[in-house]
Amino acid sequence: MKILRDIPSLLAWRAEAEAAGRGVGFVPTMGYLHAGHLSLVEEARRRVPEGEVLLSIFVNPTQFAAGEDLEIYPRDEAGDLAKAEAAGANVAFCPLDPEIMYRPGPPVWVQVEGLEQRLCGASRPTHFRGVCTVVSKLFNLVRADVNVFGQKDYQQLAIIKRMHAELFFAGEVVGMPIVREADGLAMSSRNAYLSAEERQKALALSGFLRTVEARWAAGERRVAALLADAKTVLSVGEIDYVTLSDAETLEPWADDATVDRPSVLALAVKFAGARLIDNCVLR
Ligand code: PAF
Repeated sequence: MKILRDIPSLLAWRAEAEAAGRGVGFVPTMGYLHAGHLSLVEEARRRVPEGEVLLSIFVNPTQFAAGEDLEIYPRDEAGDLAKAEAAGANVAFCPLDPEIMYRPGPPVWVQVEGLEQRLCGASRPTHFRGVCTVVSKLFNLVRADVNVFGQKDYQQLAIIKRMHAELFFAGEVVGMPIVREADGLAMSSRNAYLSAEERQKALALSGFLRTVEARWAAGERRVAALLADAKTVLSVGEIDYVTLSDAETLEPWADDATVDRPSVLALAVKFAGARLIDNCVLR
């Protein structure tokens, strides 16, 4: 596994890949990899079987607000590199210093208005600006043929797809299904923060999504009926939001609406240890 620590080495690797006519698959992460991340690496490798698969590991400071978990975000670079290599990555970009990605001088931001203020953006107003900015920098540097993201961060994926199209970035953006633990909990690096009791309570999130999927499969389309007991079931923690929205625009459905197109049920619940998100798409 080749490890790149700075921009000149990343650009030199990219130029070599281009000169050799090798395709590039890219999986951006903040590290502490779990099976969900590895499914993204496997997909990138599947799409560029003879090419380069680059994993980036960078805990991006600008997507954390003051008081969030930037300082304690779990890290295990050696473990991550071993897992990513076994899943098919052959090169990793791991800048050790945030100043490699954010140079001194007036800040430059990339924002997708509207989409980024909803759902998670309501309680984390600067989060997606940080995500879009760092992902733009990475897209510019890597110029991959395929960029693979997880659908657990459904809103992030929708925002990145819009940004990618509107800023004419290279290649395509691919979203991969959520990977779950055997009991249904969506995999997340932040699950490591949960106590055993919170970990058990957190099963209510995926349980609720399965209930709504069953209602949908039975033909229910009224928002109020689909989400009937949301507040009770999800009160295992502090509910940040539970919202049914248009799957593409993320425009929320009104409580008295009847759904007539693909929609996403997204939720966020805060526990003492971690704020968890999950979602399902209803088609
Ligand atoms: O999903 C993540 O891990 C991060 O938001 C990303 C896309 C790597 C940007 O820092």
